[in-house]
Amino acid sequence: MMNDWAGLPAAYGDVLRRAMDSLFRTFENFSEGTFIVDADARVVWINKRYAARFGFADPEQAIGRDCEAVIPNSLMREVVTTGKPILLDILETDREPLVVTRLPLKDDAGQTVGAVGFALFDELKALTPLFSHYSRVQQELIATRQSLAQARRAKYTFGSFVGTSPASLEVKRQARRAAQLESPVLLLGETGTGKELLAHAIHGGSARANQPLVTVNVAAIPDSLLEVEFFGAAPGAYTGADRKGRVGKFELANGGTLFLDEIGDMPLPLQGKLLRVLQDKEFEPLGSNRIVRADVRIIAATSADLLALVAAGRFRADLFYRLNVLTIHAPALRERLADIEALAYAMLEELSTQARGGRHFELQDDALRLLCSYAWPGNVRELRNTLERAVMLADSERIDARALAPFVGSAQGGGHRPYVPEAVSVARAANEATGAPEPASWSDAMAAFEKRFLSEALRANGGRVINTATQIGMGRATLYKKIAAYGIEV
Ligand SMILES: Nc1ncnc2c1ncn2[C@@H]1O[C@H](COP(=O)(O)OP(=O)(O)OP(=O)(O)O)[C@@H](O)[C@H]1O
Ligand SMILES: [Mg+2]
Repeated sequence: MMNDWAGLPAAYGDVLRRAMDSLFRTFENFSEGTFIVDADARVVWINKRYAARFGFADPEQAIGRDCEAVIPNSLMREVVTTGKPILLDILETDREPLVVTRLPLKDDAGQTVGAVGFALFDELKALTPLFSHYSRVQQELIATRQSLAQARRAKYTFGSFVGTSPASLEVKRQARRAAQLESPVLLLGETGTGKELLAHAIHGGSARANQPLVTVNVAAIPDSLLEVEFFGAAPGAYTGADRKGRVGKFELANGGTLFLDEIGDMPLPLQGKLLRVLQDKEFEPLGSNRIVRADVRIIAATSADLLALVAAGRFRADLFYRLNVLTIHAPALRERLADIEALAYAMLEELSTQARGGRHFELQDDALRLLCSYAWPGNVRELRNTLERAVMLADSERIDARALAPFVGSAQGGGHRPYVPEAVSVARAANEATGAPEPASWSDAMAAFEKRFLSEALRANGGRVINTATQIGMGRATLYKKIAAYGIEV
């Protein structure tokens, strides 16, 4: 390739040569550093300042070496290989980063014979605003990445699962085994039995521990948003949503673990899509033509009776069997009373460190007996809530049965709002309106009342189970069970 100026009159050629010469010298003088490499990216020349910056007291010591051996992260090899300049770039160094320009050097035939690089920062103050903007954005990115990585790390380990009863030891044994394997894990068990804790421990104990653990609480996200939440969306894929597009949880979890909490609440169409992703290991974000590979390990959890949901046609049997490979049943607290003492003490320890004035709580024997005589429908979570309240109002650090009794059974499911009289009267009115027959016994009356009360509350919340549970102060899982037991339509 001939240069455009090949045919210039001799005098003009001289000006041009001077221009090139002075351009080089100007850059050389004003730049933080200049260096030249040959066609094999070996250093041919480097100015003193630049050589010194990279630890060569004498520039001669750098001559003949590979460019990367002199300037780590140098991209001069790319320039000599492609023959294309990199006009503006940022070179990370172990001191502050440098703004650099890299230009190929060509012979008369257009062959790349080398390249010249200038580090512009420091002298070219005009670049400072751009550069400080870059630095700030870079800092923010690092901070955000760190906090995200923190959030996506397992919060609990197997050690966090307190309990040495045979049932607890068996659960831990199964969970440890699951951590060694790659197949999906299904965690079953009543509310508050530690399913989430186990999911974290399994991820944290697996080969994927250094990769993200991403959680989707299926019950907490409206059905209409779930698909995007899972698979993401291309920019502008749907109206009213992020214009920039959205990265789905599957993609975020790539290489790591996706924890699907409350999987029993997944709408049927999405169950089909999930099954396909589990089979094909790839998917397309909404509205995009992009295929995303998903190397994701699934841990699913639910307190619902999945088999009953399958039988009722609300959960796909094929998805159930796909997930039901390594199934772990977290035992109810009442099935491992032997753990109550250790659990209670672990919790009191934690509460003591949180309490002001360094209080140290102790359980009297009668208090422990009381804890062991209760059925704990809300399991470990309920035990925690109970102790927390008792401790908050305790006069003494030695907690006996009398101090504890008012709180046992009052904290079920974490919700503690009393029945609201208006809601009761609504239910009563509904009862009268339907002309329901007089119930035969107290328990029938209570059941009839409860069914109406729940139906009303659900209707008032547009059928949203989570909102209803919060409003009436009942645990979600309990509400789900009652809906199934009474056959309430939602
Ligand atoms: N074995 C255990 N040792 C110590 N803490 C536990 C144990 N099991 C549960 N917990 C604690 O009890 C609370 C509830 O546990 P977790 O959220 O894991 O239950 P879950 O089974 O996921 O409940 P849900 O079905 O309601 O979501 C958490 O604070 C957790 O740390
Ligand atoms: Mg949970």
